[in-house]
Amino acid sequence: MIVERNVPLQPHNSFGIVAKARALVRVRGAEDVKQLLADPELGSIPKFVLGGGSNIVLTGDVKPLVLKVEVMGRRLVEDGPRATVVEAGAGENWHDFVDWTLDQGFGGLENLALIPGTVGASPVQNIGAYGVELQDRFESLDAIDLFTGKIFTLDETQCAFGYRDSVFKHAAGQEGDFGLGGRALILRVRLRLPKPWKPVLGYLDLERKMQETGIRDPSARQIRDWVCAIRAGKLPDPRVIGNAGSFFKNPTVTPEQCQDIIAREPGIVHYPMPDGSVKLAAGWLIDACGWKGKSVGNAGVYEKQALVLVNRGGVTGGEVVTLARAIQTSVYERFGIRLEPEPVVV
Ligand code: EPU
Repeated sequence: MIVERNVPLQPHNSFGIVAKARALVRVRGAEDVKQLLADPELGSIPKFVLGGGSNIVLTGDVKPLVLKVEVMGRRLVEDGPRATVVEAGAGENWHDFVDWTLDQGFGGLENLALIPGTVGASPVQNIGAYGVELQDRFESLDAIDLFTGKIFTLDETQCAFGYRDSVFKHAAGQEGDFGLGGRALILRVRLRLPKPWKPVLGYLDLERKMQETGIRDPSARQIRDWVCAIRAGKLPDPRVIGNAGSFFKNPTVTPEQCQDIIAREPGIVHYPMPDGSVKLAAGWLIDACGWKGKSVGNAGVYEKQALVLVNRGGVTGGEVVTLARAIQTSVYERFGIRLEPEPVVV
């Protein structure tokens, strides 16, 4: 086990914020964690699990010991009559894993192509795009308890998935709290790809692609290519412009609240949900408040999608948080809706 000191984290967060880890250990498997926990100095100090860094805002140097997850490997677990189960190490790049499944001839993850980050981070915020959420394809995961060193497996129910939410986003150890946040380090994730493969094409942007191209019966790879093109058209590539994807969750309101807002703002983009609530497009709300293209210091609102905050060069975590708060205030003052951030502020 090698403890690296004062490690620059700029290459390890998609916002490209300059910050350091006071101490960092690379985790390539469960044995590394067990060794760490047995260490008299490091065993009991606070720890911070870092995946691809695509959903965090660093507001300073990270004081807890950073565990950089580098558990690799991809494999076919089972090719049964009703589903194919595939597995990947938590440190694998998510998009490369999606492409690998398609190369093997297994469809099912194509709508989730080009989402930044690692496989291990995918269940934490239950990533989702173009009509598919991770939970729709989830089989199980293996994790290690950072307090006891015990390895355990969780199924879909135990992960308590919600919209951009899971058991891993809730703090551990507090009274009445069911969470595993800060306690579990995800090692491997298994996904179930149902057979026969069925395309998910209900999303407006994908319907448009079908109309534009005249392709009514797209393959999984075709959908993957469309999703990549749609994302590239409106979301900034973090390798070019630092960002953490959607900065806020799309809020839900009751149908009564929605009617009330529509009466004042007839153009509001909204979608009825299966449970009777109504989801509002946070990007539309922010856009309507005039934020698109605006900046606070070096933190900006992306020109093509107001839901994405970007690094205009040398941004600090403080500037991102200030901009996010200013946006929350104007959306609240105009619509009476509180926007909830998606990334974790560290
Ligand atoms: N809109 C505006 N102005 C904007 C942005 C959006 O009017 O500046 C409107 C759009 O015209 C559209 C609606 O808002 O009618 C929704 O926009 P879009 O289809 O781009 O999707 P989204 O709700 O903004 C969500 C996810 C994305 C995911 C896409 C596609 C959340 C918070 N975001 O975005 O996820 O890729 O749907 O499924 O749920 C992410 O989480 O990082 C992410 C990128």
